[in-house]
Amino acid sequence: MRHTRVIVTHYGGPDALRVVEEERPEPKDGEVQVRVLAAGVSLPDVMAREGVHPETPPVPFTPGWDLVGVVDRLGDGVSGIEPGQVVAALPIHGAYAEFVCLPQRELVPVPSGLDAAEAVSLVLNYITAYQMMHRSVEVRPGQRMLIHGAAGGVGTALLQLGRVTGLEMYGTCSSRNASVVSDLGAIPIDYHQQDFVKEIFRLTGDGVDVVFDPIGGPHLWQSRKALRRGGSVVGYGLISSIRGEGLASGRPGQRQRFRGTAAFALYIAGGWLLPGRKRVTPYSIQTLKRLKPTWFRQDLITLFDLLQQGKVKPIIAQRLPLAEARHAQELLAEGGVTGKIVLVCNGGMLEPGGA
Ligand SMILES: NC(=O)c1ccc[n+]([C@@H]2O[C@H](COP(=O)([O-])OP(=O)(O)OC[C@H]3O[C@@H](n4cnc5c(N)ncnc54)[C@H](OP(=O)(O)O)[C@@H]3O)[C@@H](O)[C@H]2O)c1
Repeated sequence: MRHTRVIVTHYGGPDALRVVEEERPEPKDGEVQVRVLAAGVSLPDVMAREGVHPETPPVPFTPGWDLVGVVDRLGDGVSGIEPGQVVAALPIHGAYAEFVCLPQRELVPVPSGLDAAEAVSLVLNYITAYQMMHRSVEVRPGQRMLIHGAAGGVGTALLQLGRVTGLEMYGTCSSRNASVVSDLGAIPIDYHQQDFVKEIFRLTGDGVDVVFDPIGGPHLWQSRKALRRGGSVVGYGLISSIRGEGLASGRPGQRQRFRGTAAFALYIAGGWLLPGRKRVTPYSIQTLKRLKPTWFRQDLITLFDLLQQGKVKPIIAQRLPLAEARHAQELLAEGGVTGKIVLVCNGGMLEPGGA
């Protein structure tokens, strides 16, 4: 039986993506074959295509960090899971495909009745947001948080989860996204027109308790300036290294990657050494998942519960067919996307009674 998947043929721009048709993968011992319903499109996919993400596999590879699908076939030695069950996973790469085979331990059951595109939005963006808020720093009701990239995939997740926790929220965004940010309960700050550090002090008097920073580089330092005494910056991305300078450059990313990581280490050390008890903490979903796989599973189950209760509602920017993966990545890389772009496969709907 054949299926379609997307491959990255070389590190570079969107032309590196190709749609191929080939034999379906067979589940090995301990593996489950999953029919993919929804695969998330994210900046880490774009960074892997460019070769600048720490998790970049050797080419050719299939991109796609996060997926929701239906169990189709079981490999030898698999038990406790049935064909037809709906599951979610964070394979880090491989999700842009109609069928994938994954070790059973990677699969988390998805409750019945959830929309596949909304469910897949939780797997990368909401887990990142949730773990930064509750595992990297333990936010408390009433605290102030500043979210950079507040209208983005992770940014909107942070805003929705911040509202559930009862935080006072500020979010940087372009002016076109200001209403999205204010509708989600935060005061928007236009980072193109305003100095966010000055604006934070004007609005709060003495700064915020926590800043979530996906921009990276010297921006982490600016974020630290927006903190109150004892506050924390959680750094979780390097948008600064791919927007403008690096994106679609086709340059191999090793040097850029190591430069970014070295700069990060300096900011972390500076955070400890300089006065004010202000910390700079890195977050990486893949590192924490490897160190604490049970947290990933527990946190995803918590998030599915919040989705079922209607306490969070992922914003789906677009649902596109798998064959439009290139267009999806181009849209995301241009910026200005609000929420999550999802590639929909195999009909993309969850069947009633899944899981
Ligand atoms: N460490 C981890 O485990 C982890 C996990 C998931 C994602 N990430 C990283 O998180 C980052 C964001 O991912 P995403 O999926 O949320 O991306 P996204 O949906 O494309 O959102 C990125 C946002 O960044 C904003 N932006 C760009 N430059 C900015 C600046 N100088 N100041 C403030 N905002 C700025 C854009 O805002 P406007 O459009 O409003 O200008 C856009 O909304 C990526 O770097 C990704 O690699 C890390």
